[in-house]
Amino acid sequence: MDLIFLIPFSCLLFTLSGAAIDPTSGVCYGQLGNNLPSPSKSVELIKSLKAGRVKLDNVNPKILTALSNTNIPVTITVPNKIITAIASNQTLADEWVTSNVARFYPKTKIQTVLVGKQVLSQPDNVTWFNLVPAMYRIRKSHGLFEHFYPPSSANFRSNVANTVIKPLLHFINHTKSFFFVDVYPYYAWASDPKNIDLNYALLEANTKWYLDEPVGLFFTNLLEQMLDAVYFAMKGAGYPDIRLSISETGWPNGGGVDQSGANIHNAAVYNKNVIKILTEIPLRGTPYKPFVALTSFISALYNENQKPGPETERHFGLFYPNGTSIYPINLSGKST
Ligand SMILES: *[C@@H]1O[C@H](CO)[C@@H](O)[C@H](O)[C@H]1NC(C)=O
Ligand SMILES: *[C@@H]1O[C@H](CO)[C@@H](O)[C@H](O)[C@H]1NC(C)=O
Ligand SMILES: *[C@@H]1O[C@H](CO)[C@@H](O)[C@H](O)[C@H]1NC(C)=O
Ligand SMILES: *[C@@H]1O[C@H](CO)[C@@H](O)[C@H](O)[C@H]1NC(C)=O
Ligand SMILES: *[C@@H]1O[C@H](CO)[C@@H](O)[C@H](O)[C@H]1NC(C)=O
Repeated sequence: MDLIFLIPFSCLLFTLSGAAIDPTSGVCYGQLGNNLPSPSKSVELIKSLKAGRVKLDNVNPKILTALSNTNIPVTITVPNKIITAIASNQTLADEWVTSNVARFYPKTKIQTVLVGKQVLSQPDNVTWFNLVPAMYRIRKSHGLFEHFYPPSSANFRSNVANTVIKPLLHFINHTKSFFFVDVYPYYAWASDPKNIDLNYALLEANTKWYLDEPVGLFFTNLLEQMLDAVYFAMKGAGYPDIRLSISETGWPNGGGVDQSGANIHNAAVYNKNVIKILTEIPLRGTPYKPFVALTSFISALYNENQKPGPETERHFGLFYPNGTSIYPINLSGKST
């Protein structure tokens, strides 16, 4: 079985207010639709989901203002296109933080600042707007790894390991930050539905087991298998103690022309299982890192009609653009 994992990377710049680990799931508030509800209506929906966190792919002053006084932890993202400029100009970096973080904090509980979205998974100079197409992401991110499978043999490709990954991991380790990964078992399954069991990808309990023999670890679902591949790759790079956080995960609720797996039922099953697994008490962790807390963001708040790429890309929402929920879901993990 040749598994392809979709794990584009986001780089964590810093966390504010100590990044308390709350295993409640968050939601990615994507905004690539021209028919989406207003920020204040969206904040009401986010509250109704009992989302533990919300992540923005940018910094939107209207949304940050709407999130003020809600006490919902917010993750914002430094846009890819200014990363290079900021990297070489402290003044610019300071200005960015002043106008995008300090201006809203602490009224808006900005907790985490991500630098870039899927930076390492895209070719130079192609902004993420052009990048999202699913298969493209798989191919690109695949290039980061030499092996993923079995998870215990996962490692970063030697050319990126030394020039990009190791300095990044060094920084994260030094600042006790998290390594943020986008993990989409859906894409792994969609790339090889014959060999990957759908229920294994949907995190359904007691479906299929997979034994990673060299380390004697049993995997019961694809998400944990993918996460452990990242842990093992970080260990191989010399950083066994870095914590992971899931910056995005999700399952499309439609749009699969030839992907019967992209439907409302499977999206509901997957997202509910993610929430269940991540909010289990005592903390479940992964087979390789049991009991270790994992935070996550479900992608996305809405079906976004202007997202590029295959039709499934526009069907990752928990809500239709009119604010009607697509299936009942509760991110608190407290309801069945
Ligand atoms: C750094 O950024 C500041 C603020 O945007 C700008 O005024 C300055 O010219 C930049 N410096 C360089 C060397 O580009
Ligand atoms: C990106 O494009 C700009 C303008 O075309 C160019 O100056 C720069 O070198 C490019 N950067 C990379 C990393 O290719
Ligand atoms: C990572 O951080 C820990 C704790 O600060 C430190 O003990 C360890 O040496 C660091 N690892 C590397 C490879 O720098
Ligand atoms: C919202 O949109 C969905 C999908 O188009 C539709 O099924 C639903 O009836 C709409 N709800 C309202 C209240 O208009
Ligand atoms: C989510 O679960 C919480 C806790 O059980 C409950 O208070 C809330 O009403 C639920 N929200 C939805 C939208 O079901």
